[in-house]
Amino acid sequence: MPLDPVYLATGIEAALAAGRIHRQYFRKNPEVQKKGPIDLVTAADVGAERAFRALIAARFPDHSVLGEEQTTGLPKHSETRCRWIVDPLDGTTNFAHGLALFCVSIALEIDGRVELGVVYDPIADELFTAERGGGARLNGELVQVSQRATLLDGLLCTGFPYSIRERPERQVEVFASFLGQARAVRRLGSAALDLCYVACGRFDGFWERHLHPWDMAAGALIVEEAGGRVTDYSKRPIDLFGGQIVVSNGHLHEDMLTVIDAAGR
Ligand code: IPD
Ligand code: CA
Ligand code: CA
Repeated sequence: MPLDPVYLATGIEAALAAGRIHRQYFRKNPEVQKKGPIDLVTAADVGAERAFRALIAARFPDHSVLGEEQTTGLPKHSETRCRWIVDPLDGTTNFAHGLALFCVSIALEIDGRVELGVVYDPIADELFTAERGGGARLNGELVQVSQRATLLDGLLCTGFPYSIRERPERQVEVFASFLGQARAVRRLGSAALDLCYVACGRFDGFWERHLHPWDMAAGALIVEEAGGRVTDYSKRPIDLFGGQIVVSNGHLHEDMLTVIDAAGR
């Protein structure tokens, strides 16, 4: 059954509102606090999540929100039928350093399945949206994954968790292995945007582990709806709470899984 259009309209309204908050603080020396040794949070992260929660509470009092800055623990199962999963600012390190690569990521899960994804980059003014079964769009136009058929022709992207310092070995091996096989590998610093860039064909594949549900929920649906493939490192459907994700244009997927497997996950 098609989704009530009010959900997409709300997702877009909330994403644009978060983008306005990002722009208000960007490159204006926002106060930066440390959540961990290298994990940062700014007034923009906190303000955008607060505004998002207020909008959802006012419009859908029976929905819940799983958000990076205010949810404690990681409740896999929702107590409500509809749950919004939000990263109010994905790419906080970039944001705090004045680097214009960040976004807000918003997904709506209904009965445990993501049905809607919205990702907005307020600096490039790029709005990525998808509803399950309805295709993926960039600023309203349908987008598709690329057609590149070999790793050698592929531009890949990855990311590293804040915990990389503790156990870098395997992830560095996988990275090095892709460097030797793909056209090039990038690390942009915003997983949600990385996923959207696969959806619209700028990247041909992306992999990362130790992600959180709010990093992946919207972007994974957007890739799927753009005709891409989305799995975990073991070729299973992704578990938003499992941390791992591999996405591709489909053609490169098996090769990407082979590289990850050979280098040791
Ligand atoms: C981070 C970004 C980054 C990824 C990290 C994430 P944050 O999210 O998506 O690209 O490599 O694993 O934690 O902290 O900027 O919201
Ligand atoms: Ca994030
Ligand atoms: Ca974040």
